[in-house]
Amino acid sequence: MVMDRPIIQLPPARILGIESSCDETAAAVVENGRSMLSNVVATQIDIHTQYGGVFPEVASRQHIRTIYAIVDEALQRAHLGFNDLDAIAVTRGPGLPGSLVIGMNMAKGLALSTGLPLIGVNHLEGHLYSAWIYPHDTPAPPAPPEFPLLALLVSGGHSELVLMTGHLEYRRLGGTLDDAAGEAFDKVARLLGLAYPGGPSIQKTARDGNPEAFNFPRARLEGTWNFSFSGVKTAVLRTVRDLESRNIALSVADLAASFQAAVVDILVQKTLHAARVFQAKEILVAGGVSANTALRDAFVAQKEFPVQIPSIFLCTDNAAMIAAAGYYRFANGQRDPLNLDVLPTWALS
Ligand SMILES: Nc1ncnc2c1ncn2[C@@H]1O[C@H](COP(=O)(O)OP(=O)(O)OP(=O)(O)O)[C@@H](O)[C@H]1O
Ligand SMILES: [Mg+2]
Repeated sequence: MVMDRPIIQLPPARILGIESSCDETAAAVVENGRSMLSNVVATQIDIHTQYGGVFPEVASRQHIRTIYAIVDEALQRAHLGFNDLDAIAVTRGPGLPGSLVIGMNMAKGLALSTGLPLIGVNHLEGHLYSAWIYPHDTPAPPAPPEFPLLALLVSGGHSELVLMTGHLEYRRLGGTLDDAAGEAFDKVARLLGLAYPGGPSIQKTARDGNPEAFNFPRARLEGTWNFSFSGVKTAVLRTVRDLESRNIALSVADLAASFQAAVVDILVQKTLHAARVFQAKEILVAGGVSANTALRDAFVAQKEFPVQIPSIFLCTDNAAMIAAAGYYRFANGQRDPLNLDVLPTWALS
């Protein structure tokens, strides 16, 4: 996704963002790509918990029920009407097709009725731009991330290392060869009998465990910028089976802590290595797994590179990140037609 022409200036603009790619229905208003005026997220976690994961058909129907009220609330909380906005940004992909369509159609309907431009945004780009956002009442806005940035994007569906050389300029270095980091957290949580979503459950359980109790494998995949998490996941499964077959009581806390330590170790070591090789000025960590405190602590503990990690509430899916990324696309001249289609699989490159 290399930009067509450089962004010469960043105009003042307020963007309404809409996000519905998975199981969060979200709307937000962000000013000038950074100042968050409102951010409303309706999560469907309680509904999907009974299925142990997101049930796509149920997700899209739930988006239909809530999206109008969520958009309305985002505008109300920002104390703004459509006349105060400059564009509507919406997640175009990647995500569940049926879920994406609901947000897209809402955005198109609003664009058609208000005359505001429509801007389709890549959800992964949104996750990266969450690092630019600050609440509008922040007394001293933080300095923006500095390019070149080495970004680690770790979420439910992705684990990517991306070199960002400027706004909207990405070079994908590598990604997961099998499970995404968040997916590994979710699968391991399920096999340990912990609640969905697995990331927060493992983090909570791991607090009482010993991260060195089990030495789970770290797939280094030397010479590539790829990740692999299926080995560590299988190692946890084998350990559980082995302990059960020998009638040894399972310490779920030790298993969770050791699994989390292995994943954090892999992510941090590879990101630091890439930041050195590509001479990054800063590291950016984003996506749902960046809410993990062990991962955050490990990045903060290293002193080699400044690290940008969004506030926890901006790590998982939200629409402020879509509005922020949409702002830079707006500034770059992107205006999409009203027959814009969703892209359920859409790489960031
Ligand atoms: N504290 C945490 N520790 C580890 N993982 C976490 C934590 N909080 C959330 N996650 C994981 O983050 C994932 C959800 O992140 P996110 O909402 O960004 O994913 P997604 O939108 O479904 O996927 P993608 O962004 O790749 O399309 C889940 O897999 C969840 O388990
Ligand atoms: Mg996401």
